[in-house]
Amino acid sequence: MTPLLEVEDLHVAVGGVSILRGVDLTVGAGEIHVLMGPNGSGKSTLANTLLGNPAYQVTGGSIRLNGQDVTDWAPDVRAKAGMFLAFQDPETIGGVPVLQFLRQAMSARKGMDLSVLEVRMSMLEWMDKLGMDPSFGDRHLNEGFSGGEKKRNEILQMALLDPELAVLDETDSGLDVDALGVVARGVQAVRDARPALGVLLVTHYTRILQDLRPDVVHVLISGRIVETGGAALADRLEEEGYEQWKR
Ligand SMILES: Nc1ncnc2c1ncn2[C@@H]1O[C@H](COP(=O)(O)OP(=O)(O)OP(=O)(O)O)[C@@H](O)[C@H]1O
Ligand SMILES: [Mg+2]
Repeated sequence: MTPLLEVEDLHVAVGGVSILRGVDLTVGAGEIHVLMGPNGSGKSTLANTLLGNPAYQVTGGSIRLNGQDVTDWAPDVRAKAGMFLAFQDPETIGGVPVLQFLRQAMSARKGMDLSVLEVRMSMLEWMDKLGMDPSFGDRHLNEGFSGGEKKRNEILQMALLDPELAVLDETDSGLDVDALGVVARGVQAVRDARPALGVLLVTHYTRILQDLRPDVVHVLISGRIVETGGAALADRLEEEGYEQWKR
């Protein structure tokens, strides 16, 4: 079976500086992969590159989604094809209510104009599942959202956009235990509804992995994956850190 995501020998430069230096990664449908590594190792660079952020130049290698080479695809085309990316620092898009934003994004993903009512119905259903206050949909995107609210909003977006692959960059040092729990439980709720969802989760915190057991853990150091293992690898990192690979 064709894997969901195949990253092959990926080289990426930012502003002419080489950051990723040959990353190989394969995520199958329904799998949870965790990407860990020290600050500056290139985790967010990989997430941005998967999104298709034009500031990140692919200088070698390829990204395939369900067997299709998406390396040169624009971010919106990737999103439509089922890639979802949530970021460390979600931007505040001034003046856009959550409902309106979701309507645009969902209509783009589904390839048809959804009515406000349709979007509101699915939104309320998922807000209930995720334990969110219904008034949240009338608020403006990320304006004055607490850390936990931003996370809930991200997970809400993920649930409604019904992606095949979700890339979640959670290396935010400001995330408290509650917010981590929101992410872990939210991802689990979405997987319960859609078992085929593949997840690539970037995190520093092994605590999140107690709620969300990964199938595969990768360690990224200086732009290369230096080790891949099972959930036990995350426990080892918690105890030993990254020193053994840094030499
Ligand atoms: N837009 C950019 N402009 C210049 N340099 C960048 C840019 N994005 C990333 N870099 C550089 O690439 C390297 C990797 O950064 P990246 O953000 O991918 O690390 P990270 O593994 O996500 O770190 P953290 O754990 O702190 O989130 C760093 O040296 C960083 O300064
Ligand atoms: Mg980062």
